[in-house]
Amino acid sequence: MRDSMVRVAEEEDFAAIGGLYSQVGFRPDLIDDVRLVCRALGGRAFVAADSTGVVGASVGLPLGRTGWLGGIAVSPARQGCGMGAELTGRTMDWLSAGGAETLLLHATEAGHRLYTKLGFSDEGVCLQMNPSPDGFPPVCDPTDIRDGVAADLPEVLELDRLATGEDRGPLLRGLWPRGARVAGGGSGLTGFSLTPPHGPAVGAVVARTPGGGMALLGERHGGVALPAANSAVLDALVRAGFTESARTMRMYRGPRPPWRPELLHGLFNLFWG
Ligand SMILES: CC(C)(COP(=O)(O)OP(=O)(O)OC[C@H]1O[C@@H](n2cnc3c(N)ncnc32)[C@H](O)[C@@H]1OP(=O)(O)O)[C@@H](O)C(=O)NCCC(=O)NCCS
Repeated sequence: MRDSMVRVAEEEDFAAIGGLYSQVGFRPDLIDDVRLVCRALGGRAFVAADSTGVVGASVGLPLGRTGWLGGIAVSPARQGCGMGAELTGRTMDWLSAGGAETLLLHATEAGHRLYTKLGFSDEGVCLQMNPSPDGFPPVCDPTDIRDGVAADLPEVLELDRLATGEDRGPLLRGLWPRGARVAGGGSGLTGFSLTPPHGPAVGAVVARTPGGGMALLGERHGGVALPAANSAVLDALVRAGFTESARTMRMYRGPRPPWRPELLHGLFNLFWG
């Protein structure tokens, strides 16, 4: 990488990062996620820029002892020259300096070899599943589900920690309770769903049982990203006519978080897990 430099992205770079994302085929509203992550959730974007403008980008989201990388892209004309490695390394260093012991990301096929070289290990395939036009199977117990409120947050954080092995407090506190639904309640919270403003229709769905997950999923009509290891829910989605539209490999570097994919029925997206 001779005539370009990597630096922290500024507000006026976001439009160019969005242009770069469309060049590499990322979903068009990923840039809105990046804005949200950087403006409201403590994240930071880096860009590689040369005399023509932004030619590479990468984003970090710190969550205490873990940190997520996403939105890593290099302009097709500049790929294969070390820019992806430099951007990823810079983001890794920033997250580590902030206290992240484990780094996590969702690798596309194009990025997998690069991340393996940077010390990441495979953890499991994650899938974006989209519904058929014919609808969704009946929900198990819709009466058990209500809107989330601020007072649910401590129980939500506890259940989320059980499922992810991470403290996603910075992310959940930033988004809760807008668009949130919870299951259970009286005798303890058994699940929640939280749809971020952009991205897949469903968003995060965490529940103690596959039935609870399906009930929360059944409320939201649209695509969902989930770990393939959650075979109970994946099988139910396939039976309901859902089909795969994208897949990533979840990768980690550092101590492996004790996540329980069978409790994760929806991921925020294939960018911040
Ligand atoms: C993935 C991506 C960011 C890599 O950027 P890049 O600038 O081309 O990567 P680099 O030049 O830094 O490559 C780093 C290393 O990975 C290797 N590598 C990169 N892509 C490779 C590929 N498709 N096949 C084999 N090796 C590859 C390079 O040879 C290099 O290894 P080396 O240093 O030993 O030579 C870029 O291909 C891209 O933007 N792809 C489209 C968007 C995407 O899928 N992003 C990943 C999201 S997780």
